[in-house]
Amino acid sequence: MKNTDTNKDLKRLVGATAAQLVENGMICGIGTGSTVVFLIEELGRRVREEKLEIIGVPTSFQSKILCRANGIKTLDLQECARLDLAIDGADEVDPELNAIKGGGAAHTMEKIVAAMAERFVIIVDDSKLVPKLGTAFPVPVEIIPSALGYLTAKIREWGGESQLRMGARKDGPVITDNGQFVIDLKFKSGTDLRKIDSQLHQLPGVIETGLFFDLAKQVLVGMGNDLTVRTMERQKDSFKH
Ligand code: A5P
Repeated sequence: MKNTDTNKDLKRLVGATAAQLVENGMICGIGTGSTVVFLIEELGRRVREEKLEIIGVPTSFQSKILCRANGIKTLDLQECARLDLAIDGADEVDPELNAIKGGGAAHTMEKIVAAMAERFVIIVDDSKLVPKLGTAFPVPVEIIPSALGYLTAKIREWGGESQLRMGARKDGPVITDNGQFVIDLKFKSGTDLRKIDSQLHQLPGVIETGLFFDLAKQVLVGMGNDLTVRTMERQKDSFKH
């Protein structure tokens, strides 16, 4: 699905930079993926060395295990109503700070966390910046397994292609942390993905899409040319879930 080994230095830089946004006493949503690993490691260092007192709310088993291993206290998502901050990676980011997420199949919990946070910050290396969403990455959708045939046919009716995500070191499909399937959708260039997103939400069997519209307040980007971090800010405060 995605190569987690690329751009490690940039991921480390942007992950460690984002860890500085976390302040004493915060309850912080912690995303998932290879960039977030570096965020968690730096937060762990700050907890140990600076006695930073925070609570992390992880979006996956991966992040929960890593938080615990790094000495970060955690709460489960269902125990929280709001978060001060949430920080997460992404697979694609457009100039309006909209994103595709879900390369690690964790986007449902990631979207809940993003919606609950006062401030949602995305951390990426510059290879993730695209002029338009869907340029390089398919749109992941978490679905109930029984809806696979129905949803595959619907996507085809809309002119798209749908592929059931298969496990890399497991026979058969990927099963998410919620016990569900993921399908990866591709559409012709120029397709209105906002419209597709709202159509998908009308269909029974769809749990959540990896399209993150109007959620991020900031994007921190690790720039490969000079190893710096650039901050992209949301221009207008449009609708938030
Ligand atoms: C997890 O499902 C995803 O949304 C990740 O946040 C996204 O794939 C970015 O991951 P990397 O930091 O590994 O590129």
